[in-house]
Amino acid sequence: MNHFSPRRGTLACEAVPLTRIAKEVGTPTYVYSTATLIRHLTVLQEAFKGTPHLHCYAVKANSSLAILKLFAQRGAGFDIVSGGELVRVLAARGRASKVVFSGVGKTEEEMAFALKEGILQFNVESAEELLALDKVARRLKRVAPFAMRVNPHVDARTHRYIATGLKSSKFGVPFEEAIALYRKSRTLKGLNARGLDCHIGSQVTDAKPVQQAIGRVAELFRSLRGEGFALTHLDVGGGLGITYTDEKPPSVAEYARAVLTPLRGLDATLVMEPGRVLVGNAGVLLTRVLYRKKTPARSFVIVDAGMNDLIRPALYEAHHEIVPVVPRRGKKQKVDVVGPVCESSDVLGYDRALPPQEQGDLLAVLSAGAYGMSMASNYNARPRPAEVLVDGKSYRVVRRRESLEDLLRNETP
Ligand code: LLP
Repeated sequence: MNHFSPRRGTLACEAVPLTRIAKEVGTPTYVYSTATLIRHLTVLQEAFKGTPHLHCYAVKANSSLAILKLFAQRGAGFDIVSGGELVRVLAARGRASKVVFSGVGKTEEEMAFALKEGILQFNVESAEELLALDKVARRLKRVAPFAMRVNPHVDARTHRYIATGLKSSKFGVPFEEAIALYRKSRTLKGLNARGLDCHIGSQVTDAKPVQQAIGRVAELFRSLRGEGFALTHLDVGGGLGITYTDEKPPSVAEYARAVLTPLRGLDATLVMEPGRVLVGNAGVLLTRVLYRKKTPARSFVIVDAGMNDLIRPALYEAHHEIVPVVPRRGKKQKVDVVGPVCESSDVLGYDRALPPQEQGDLLAVLSAGAYGMSMASNYNARPRPAEVLVDGKSYRVVRRRESLEDLLRNETP
């Protein structure tokens, strides 16, 4: 469900035609819908309302301050993976007490920063990290609340780059080693075992591995409590997939069932780290056709957004639907929609059936709200796009387009 649909023939975000945004803000531009963002968060919150829980939005999916603020105002917490993401959460008036800190490579500086801010919990991913956290906490004369992230060894059946629960993956500690680490933590004065954590992957479209992984983790949670650890938080990660083209991810209700069934009778606060499902279909990348080109082998539509703006197709062979903003008459033709970046992988979509495109036409790359702008780079010395947040009949530029001066800042010839 999202709020991008044609109004009098022109694709609009809520009540704002994308043609207006392109004219006033330029292209390429990410456009987000407030109503869609709020709806997605509300649907998730409703689905879990019978259980004490906290949705910690995975900031990496889209770290726009405006989006963080929208979620913070509606009670969300945040899942961060760097000190930089914590700075963003705080700048958007998110509460540190609702922040969980994930990631395999937290530095001591990042730990100290998060500890001083008073975050909810560190999701620790290795024995050495546990020792480092203890050291930092003792130095600061504090006690760090932590959860071990365990790897439940479940195949999330997603793209191999974003599966994290396999035996071969760098994430979490092996399931069998977790108990020993909790026992060890008893001897470390800087640590307080608050919870247990797992995350099996992203763009998960099957509820079975979710339920299976949570079943294993819930069992471990019970054993740890049996050993006297007063754990209060069970973090089941994020990963719920969305529909880009014809994927059929579980509905939020089905997902909630898969999560809650193994937790029956467990008296704990459930923490979730949804990213993509909140923002993915709440954003599009608006781009303009620069040129057409026909070679004996292929037909190309060259647009002004490239892999530096949206890397998902190039990096994961991800499919994003691409649609004209203003319909054109004429027989559809199969074209490759490509960007200006000097790489053969700079293709936003292969073999797309589009009505004949003219120079200056606008295209919208759909479902680009997650891992779009947050993964954008300056490759080819290209300024990153602007971001716009639409709300009903109006919109705001929530991040201005980078300028050429911005590209030179921080550098000395
Ligand atoms: N929690 C942890 C510990 C994670 O590693 C991730 C995502 C999430 C939560 C949020 O997962 P989500 O609900 O968004 O699936 N760049 C890739 C996705 C990378 C996901 C990394 N971790 C993409 O564009 O598909």
